[in-house]
This record gives sequence, structure tokens and C-alpha cells, in this order.
Amino acid sequence: MAREFTSVGVVGLGTMGAGIVEVFARNGIDVVAVEIAEDALERGRRTLTGSTDRAVARGKLAPADRDALLGRVNFAVGLAALDSVDLVIEAVPERLDLKQRLFAELDRICRPEAVLATNTSSLSVTDIAVATGRPQQVVGVHFFNPAPVMKLVEVVRTVVTAPEVVADVEALCVRLGKVGVTIGDRAGFIANHLLFGYLNQAVGMVEARYATREDIDAAMKLGGGLPMGPLTLLDLIGLDTAYEILDTMYRRGGRDRRHAPAPLLRQMVTAGLLGRKSGRGFYTYE
Ligand code: CAA
Repeated sequence: MAREFTSVGVVGLGTMGAGIVEVFARNGIDVVAVEIAEDALERGRRTLTGSTDRAVARGKLAPADRDALLGRVNFAVGLAALDSVDLVIEAVPERLDLKQRLFAELDRICRPEAVLATNTSSLSVTDIAVATGRPQQVVGVHFFNPAPVMKLVEVVRTVVTAPEVVADVEALCVRLGKVGVTIGDRAGFIANHLLFGYLNQAVGMVEARYATREDIDAAMKLGGGLPMGPLTLLDLIGLDTAYEILDTMYRRGGRDRRHAPAPLLRQMVTAGLLGRKSGRGFYTYE
């Protein structure tokens, strides 16, 4: 019998973290939503209320269900609030030193039987797991953006993750209405390894002025049957996140040329053109 997680913590309430909180709360699971400072917590709270208010406005969620959903979320500053949850999902920025420090801290604070999961998209789950005294209970749980909508979760097992922990997390995915795929700890797992070479080449095409961004997007949307073209998708993912994923995969994955970040991507990140979240990326947003 799979273990049923009844109380979950999410650390980091950026785009992904806030989306993950929504996924749990929508599915009737209590969530402790944690940030390091009050302003970041407030941003996370706004993302969650914005998303659920949109769902109400579109007639997809009854106001009473929205209120019940929000009632399942306890917002808190600081990790101490996670001392009684049985699963933590970390969604802080993609820096190994930051994640290792956080996991060492979680290891001290959380109950010994709690599972510690990372939503990392390209760092090594093993490198994160060894920062704790319970690497057998550390697993990758990789959601896709926007988390409330995308069906896939990659469940990443390391060479030391206990098989029952992997099975428990796979069962959780089903409970969340997601489809879990299980993979080993390889840079980019399955989806990002395949997706980001393609996204990077699209940036290279813009850089070479080979085609306009609109035509590149139209070609892949209409000719490839995709929900959005690569440059629109990069704006959704966030150019800083995309850059970090590519750079990490390039360095971890044997310096595969396809993953060497296009120079234009770096320039845009340096200039603060991060996509939707900053109001401008390949396109401009209100
Ligand atoms: N939060 C919650 N719900 C959202 C949302 C968000 N941020 N964005 C869209 N939605 C919901 C809408 O409310 C709508 O719900 P209903 O159908 O119930 O009304 C539904 O999603 C469709 O939205 P729209 O009609 O506004 O727009 P759309 O049909 O163009 O869909 C999309 C939007 C779901 C984002 C779609 O364009 C899509 O699937 N795009 C591709 C996204 C993708 O590839 N993501 C993976 C990125 S890679 C990644 O995430 C990995 C990583 O490590 C970075």
C-alpha cells in the first residue's frame, strides 16, 4: 500500500512553487507554503489568488470551492513551519549551493520519516540528496509550467532513493490528477533534455535573423501541432530559467553543442528581458 501524504510543504513561491501549491490545494491536500521573506510570501499569495480568481471568472471554479482551496493553504515565513509535514517540495531558484543548504536545514527541521523532494529541472538530485542525512528519502518531483495545467510530473530517482519512496510519489501523482514518468538522475531528465535543444535552436534562428520570431512561432505551432511556438514558450518559462537549465545541461551533459546557450539568450537575461514575468522577452506583455 502506498503511503498517503496528508500534509505537504512547498518552499519557494515563484511561478512554479505557487503553481504546485495550487495543485495540492485543488486536490484536497493541506499545504504549508513557505518563503524566506514577507514580500516574497506576498507575491506567492498574489499568484495563487490571481490564478484561482481567473478560474472563478471563467466559470471553472465555484467561489465556495476557491475559498475552500485557499483555506487549505497556510502561508508562513521561515522553514520552522515545516516541522510536522510528511512531504516537502522545494522550488527555490536553480542554484546547487542554495538547494544544498536548504536541504541540510530541512533535514534538521522535518520529521525523520518525511520525504524531501526537489522540483529542480536540471540540477543533480543526487547532489542535493547528499546534503541530508536521509538521501534514501530524497526524490525529484518535477512539475511543468503552468503546474496547475500541465499533466506531466517527472519522478526522479537517484541510486540511493528507496523504491518505496518512488512508489509513494508515483501514487501521489495519480492522486493529483497527473501522469508521472519515472527516470534516473540524468541532466534534463526526459522532457527538458529533448525540449531545450529545440528551444535553444529557435533562439539561434532569431539571432541569425534567419526568420522573424512570429514566423518561427507560427511554423512550430501550426506545422508542428504544438500549443505555442518556441519563443512564446520561452517567454512563459522565463528566459533566466531557460538559460540556467541550458547552461547546467551543457556543463553536466558532456558539453553537448545543442545545449550551449545561444548568446542572445544570455544578453536578454542580462538586460532584464525575462519574458512574461518581467513584461518583456521575445514579445512584450501588458
Ligand atoms: N495557472 C493556472 N491555469 C492556467 C494558467 C496558469 N498559469 N495558464 C493557463 N491556465 C489554464 C486556463 O485557465 C485554461 O483553463 P480552462 O481550460 O479550464 O479554462 C487553460 O489553462 C487553457 O488556457 P488558455 O485558454 O488561456 O490558453 P491556451 O489554451 O493557450 O493554454 C497553455 C495555455 C496551457 C499554457 C498552453 O498554451 C500550453 O500548453 N503551452 C505549452 C506549455 C508548455 O510546454 N509547458 C512546459 C514548459 S517546460 C517546463 O515547464 C519545464 C521546466 O523545467 C521549465
